[in-house]
Amino acid sequence: MRLTAHRSATLSGTVPVPGDKSISHRALILGALAVGETRIEGLLEGEDVRATARIVGQLGAAVERQGPGRWTVQGRGIGGLLEPEDLLDFGNSGTAARLLLGVLAGHPFTAFATGDASLRRRPMGRVIDPLSAMGAQFVSRSGGRLPLAVTGAAEPAPQIWRMAVASAQVKSAILLAGLAAPGETTALEPEATRDHTERMLAAFGAEIRSEATKAGRAVTLTGQPELSATPVTVPADPSSAAFPLVAALLCDGSELLLPGVGVNPYRAGLLDSLVEMGAELSLENRRELAGEPLADLRVRHSTLSGIEVPPERAPSMIDEYPILAVAAAFAEGTSVFHGIGELRVKESDRLTAVAHGLAACGVEVEETEDSLTVHGRGPAGVAGGAEIAADLDHRIAMAFLVLGLAARDPVAIDDARTIETSFPGFAALMRTLGADIR
Ligand code: S3P
Repeated sequence: MRLTAHRSATLSGTVPVPGDKSISHRALILGALAVGETRIEGLLEGEDVRATARIVGQLGAAVERQGPGRWTVQGRGIGGLLEPEDLLDFGNSGTAARLLLGVLAGHPFTAFATGDASLRRRPMGRVIDPLSAMGAQFVSRSGGRLPLAVTGAAEPAPQIWRMAVASAQVKSAILLAGLAAPGETTALEPEATRDHTERMLAAFGAEIRSEATKAGRAVTLTGQPELSATPVTVPADPSSAAFPLVAALLCDGSELLLPGVGVNPYRAGLLDSLVEMGAELSLENRRELAGEPLADLRVRHSTLSGIEVPPERAPSMIDEYPILAVAAAFAEGTSVFHGIGELRVKESDRLTAVAHGLAACGVEVEETEDSLTVHGRGPAGVAGGAEIAADLDHRIAMAFLVLGLAARDPVAIDDARTIETSFPGFAALMRTLGADIR
């Protein structure tokens, strides 16, 4: 499905941003490992989360959709999942793959797993290594890539694992395997990453603590707890909110309200960066729901200036660099994003995808192994007029559609179907706000 974004003015209205992808995966997974029925409200119904729902079902936990965003999971208890009869297909979802491999590492049966062409190029070694140390066995394709077979351990060995990369997926895989381990499992992360797994584990009754150490943040779980089914209300996804939000900043005369968006501090790096760039952005009605902070975001069209984003901010906005780069293209002055090498192993090599896409739209950029420099062209200076290959990367597709809304000439995405993984109905929703996307 090809989509083309044309220059648009005045986006306005209230934006029903879909549920948080990270929290949705975790709700289904912890629901499957708990005792009793977990009721979820506001679950993201994108393809990534549907993959997790399907797999949890293949593992014997009954998952049912009760209504829009309302799902139930019948938990089987820790260690209670069943050998799947068939291949597990993680689709496009790195989060489903890494987290569920952690779960499988704590179950003594063999499962076979694969994913789509994008996921099959992504590294799984980062979870295979710690999970192997805990006693799981893997046979994978070269480079630790999918497809793979995993045989879990009946009692994984507790570990203190020092993570090489700051990745919430890796941390979560270790903690989920640690649920079946006797004793304490510690994941030591070089920079603090999103803590949705920790918050939800605590809400389900696990004993979990985190402390700052010289080597980073140490997250320690006491194994073999009894997890009790707990209702989860999923906030709106800040990583999805980012696209209409930046669109409003760039399109003349716009004002949008985005209610109930998650503002977990480990996800809020984009908001900080946009405010530094001069965005008129306010967080209203801050509150807490099911253990996660949220707020209503109000955003108005703004004139932006270039900024430097330091490497330590990367984990708190790792998925937002494509759309921040688009904002930087319309800013006055230069922006530099440091320490973003991890973008190369996302759904696509996002560093190169963003650099090539911006260059095709008439924006001067410089790319190094782990940084990106964007020479802003000012509010009216971005040419557009390009076709961008989405390469099975939803965020590249959405970022360049937003660019097309404010560029001089239309921007086309060759295959925008990938957007369904995280933001079902994105184009239709943007049209209701006034965006010209065809
Ligand atoms: C996620 C963590 C991030 C992020 C991904 C979702 C999660 O990946 O890019 O979209 O839900 O834990 P890494 O932890 O590998 O950086």
